[in-house]
Amino acid sequence: MNLDALNKVANAMVEPGKGILAADESTGTMKKRMDAIGVENSEDNRRDYREMMFRAKDAMKYVSGVILYDETIWQKAKDGTPLVKLIQDAGSIPGIKVDEGTRVLAGAKAGELITKGLDGLDKRLPKYHEQGARFAKWRAVIDPTNISYAGLLSNAHALARYANLCQEFDIVPIVEPEVLMDADNDIDTCAAVTEWVLKEVFQQLYYMNVKLEGIVLKPNMAINGKKAAKKASVDEVAEKTVKVLKACVPSAVPGIAFLSGGQSDEEASAHLSRMNELGPLPWKLTFSYGRALQHAPQKAWAGKSENVAAAQRAFLHRARMNGLASLGKYKPELEKEAA
Ligand code: 13P
Repeated sequence: MNLDALNKVANAMVEPGKGILAADESTGTMKKRMDAIGVENSEDNRRDYREMMFRAKDAMKYVSGVILYDETIWQKAKDGTPLVKLIQDAGSIPGIKVDEGTRVLAGAKAGELITKGLDGLDKRLPKYHEQGARFAKWRAVIDPTNISYAGLLSNAHALARYANLCQEFDIVPIVEPEVLMDADNDIDTCAAVTEWVLKEVFQQLYYMNVKLEGIVLKPNMAINGKKAAKKASVDEVAEKTVKVLKACVPSAVPGIAFLSGGQSDEEASAHLSRMNELGPLPWKLTFSYGRALQHAPQKAWAGKSENVAAAQRAFLHRARMNGLASLGKYKPELEKEAA
């Protein structure tokens, strides 16, 4: 393990003004995205869609790294250029999702999930490194309305095992414990569960000797569930999220890159920006958004090559909004500048 190299990559991933594009949707999740725009979920269409984003040079200026799905890291663009090379040529770092999804964790609370993918990970990581990946992602999923210590401990332990393996192979682990925002819980429940989750995750990282200077944390924000009676304000989300993070995340961690988790595009930008206005903070705060970066370009693209330029403009707009948010400089009025 080369901790200096890991630390350099981690710092580059959270460079102010930039953030991470989560383009690592599994084939099943891509089917949902493609269905929504009436496009067949074929290997070629998935390639064409992602190629459109990676070739969007102006948008990629705001993208420090791209999380890829296994299929994509081996794929070539239509003209034969490896997609990984398009990302590198745009000045961005390729990364790879290495978890293998979730299954029900028997023995915990009914419905609790555990993330799979540790078996054989030591064989997969060096191949991904050779292919250009310099960071990886593993997502644990927690329902704040259905959590037991057994479930939390198992997921935190798996994250630590994964992170330790990544560092052994000189790959920066994105540590992603996601407290979902799908239920009807209020923001305080989410904040309390997120605090518990992060405390356990950092404890397990410590036991597993994971070097915090060589990770990036990818948490949820403290936010009400989508079905909650009361919607938390931008200020409340920002203040409660920063409070939890300050209580749980050591300053040795170079940066925190949030998931969007089902927030609207504008909310995801506004929340991140407001948090950065609350500085100075001990770590960089940026985005690692999937949906909140891709809704707009997906709609604009709709599977048609004649729409590529419009889709790239839509992608540029969201990437720029979130780049500004990473500096605390996003304003809702800027949305009017959309393509
Ligand atoms: P969302 O921003 O759509 O939540 O996706 C981020 C991600 O990578 C979830 O694992």
